[in-house]
Amino acid sequence: MTADLFTPLELRGTEIPNRVMVSPMCQYSCEGRDGLPTDWHHTHLASRAVGGAGLVMTEATAVEARGRITPHDLGIWSDDHADALADITASIRDQGSVPGIQLAHAGRKASKTRPWEGSNPLTGDDGWETIAPSADPWPYEDSETATRRMSAADIEDVIDAFRAAAERARDAGFGVAEIHAAHGYLLHEFLSPVTNDRDDDYGGSFEDRTRLLREVTNAVREVWPDDAPLFVRISATDWLDDREAWTVADSVRLADELAPLGVDLIDVSAGGIHPDQSIPSTGPGYQERYARRVRQESETDIAVGAVGGITTAEQADALIRNGRGDLAIVGREHLRDPYFALHAAKELDRLDAGGIEVPSQYDRAF
Ligand code: FNR
Repeated sequence: MTADLFTPLELRGTEIPNRVMVSPMCQYSCEGRDGLPTDWHHTHLASRAVGGAGLVMTEATAVEARGRITPHDLGIWSDDHADALADITASIRDQGSVPGIQLAHAGRKASKTRPWEGSNPLTGDDGWETIAPSADPWPYEDSETATRRMSAADIEDVIDAFRAAAERARDAGFGVAEIHAAHGYLLHEFLSPVTNDRDDDYGGSFEDRTRLLREVTNAVREVWPDDAPLFVRISATDWLDDREAWTVADSVRLADELAPLGVDLIDVSAGGIHPDQSIPSTGPGYQERYARRVRQESETDIAVGAVGGITTAEQADALIRNGRGDLAIVGREHLRDPYFALHAAKELDRLDAGGIEVPSQYDRAF
């Protein structure tokens, strides 16, 4: 039987009730500099579960404090964070959705002001030293940001931070973990030859540039429950044709290496490594073709999520029906419409066919 948008997705022992995922989206809404969730995070994430999305993914959640993009980002570097996040996962589960957490480290793109404040480098005591595979700051012309080239000990620390964060996420009740290896943040910085000029075991060849991600994956898998899916978000291409950069062929090869390590789904995004990138299109489904290539060309049966410019029910349903992806990952449309999945089910006449339930309180509206 052909799967559609409201066919549950079974990964390991976990059933995601439908194929709509809320894409991770930073809210920059922690009140202090403590990385703790606020009412905003709770309301924001729980509303999307009320709206019917099968999988509600948190924003990039920092595994260590210096891995935040801004001081207002969510974190999971202490047990207090896990305790506070447990209320949110309970609310998401109450609605029948699966709570997911994106585990992240911003690397050289850390220590910035919020987007609505200009995304500028923080200065003086407000900022902090960032770490990356090389000492080149982001963007290159920005001389104010100090970025330290990571030592072997730094690399160990980061692996340990991802492992500890995954343990806490498990204890907080998350059912899916996603390692953020996209958009020019730390793990992508290691993958891409654009930002990785190392000549040790973590740079140079494809095998060496992908080593840190494989080691982080192994560390997370060690503590992440056997019946809980593990996703990795990648930038399938650096969108830089004028130099040696990360390509879609590299992404297919990476997927083949990650599947045997216990990664269940590749979340296929693109770009973010360098300001010179040239994005061919930002129209409907603008990254779908990369997801399709990873799904079709991988030698494994790893699942694939497509993200980018998915805004309509018909488009999301066609993605699944045509086998271009296993999960429709919806970002900005979820900011416009928290009830995207319910609206989609109504439009596709699937409200009574399983995969989604109208909350009783809203019954008379759908
Ligand atoms: C994002 N995006 C993003 N991606 C990610 O992997 N982790 C994150 O924390 C964020 N944060 C974030 C915040 C906001 C406000 C936006 C709009 C976007 C990217 C996002 O998940 C998605 O990949 C893109 O927005 C493209 O999908 P849409 O929006 O076209 O569906």
